[in-house]
Amino acid sequence: MITKIFNNKKINEAAELIKKGEVVAFPTETVYGLGADALNPKAVKKIFEAKGRPSDNPLIIHIADKKEIYFLAKNIPKNAFKLIEKFWPGPLTIILKKSEVVPYETTGGLDSVAIRMPNNKTALKLITLSKTPISAPSANISGKPSGTNFKHVLSDFNGKISGIIKSNDSQIGLESSVIDLTTNPPILLRPGGLSLEKLKKVCPNIISKPNKNHLSVSKSPGMKYRHYSPNARIILFEKGSEYKIKEYQIKFKDKKTKVINPNKIKDFAKKLFKILRKCDEDKVDIIFINSVKEIGIGLAVMNRLRKAASIIH
Ligand code: TXA
Ligand code: MG
Repeated sequence: MITKIFNNKKINEAAELIKKGEVVAFPTETVYGLGADALNPKAVKKIFEAKGRPSDNPLIIHIADKKEIYFLAKNIPKNAFKLIEKFWPGPLTIILKKSEVVPYETTGGLDSVAIRMPNNKTALKLITLSKTPISAPSANISGKPSGTNFKHVLSDFNGKISGIIKSNDSQIGLESSVIDLTTNPPILLRPGGLSLEKLKKVCPNIISKPNKNHLSVSKSPGMKYRHYSPNARIILFEKGSEYKIKEYQIKFKDKKTKVINPNKIKDFAKKLFKILRKCDEDKVDIIFINSVKEIGIGLAVMNRLRKAASIIH
């Protein structure tokens, strides 16, 4: 398959491909997405194939107009309106009960649906011109770090999808925060680009550290899969254990290692997936990473690092 590359002036051509049921990668403010017509089961299946994603891991539907939630969802709770009013367009995904129009291919067989309005002009234009909501997971081969620039997406999907919109690097660099609003109180299923502190101002009773009981009520299939892993092994050092890095460096002196010591947290969040991918290019065997404080975007950073790590100290 030939993958067409579009610039921001050719979004209409990319939209034609979406209308035809093809897969097109596009930029968002969080990470790049791998998009297809959310209402067309055959198109959605192509996303799963290109990404190598298990079909029970549901996709987020991207919309360009807040009112679309009435079309895609039902029994919408008050919290949803409050959150949308404050945070859309932006890095927040809400889970609602799905309406009949949403195919089970998009929701991985669930009766709920994940919806988000991205804060990115190119993405919004693509959705509008396609005249349909767009399902999109992060643009990366399943299990690998998400794609946050055009080069990442090209290297993962050249020859595997119909098109890629070439645009700027993702501004935030980590995926959206995902909140389940089908339960009361709401549950934060994935910390992300919108901080818990900001979410709590609107939804004070949100459960941010769901335990097993919460998760059996709120089905979150994505959580069981390994994520964000480069080829290198990641060893994560939580606060207070940083001194152990030296021991490891001695132990693995024959291996190619890299120490990552995050300081400016927003900057680090933005570059995290890029750094992990670069380690693969450089054939690094082991990455040592010091942890960050779990405040603001730091909560999402630590969530990604813990999922990517093979050893945590
Ligand atoms: O920022 C983002 O959210 C990016 C951009 C492209 O919008 N998308 C993204 O999609 O990160 P993905 O597929 O990589 O992650 C979506 C997460 C998964 O963990 C999935 O399991 C969860 O959302 N999810 C989707 N629909 C769900 C549902 N109905 N119930 C529970 N979890 C759901
Ligand atoms: Mg993903």
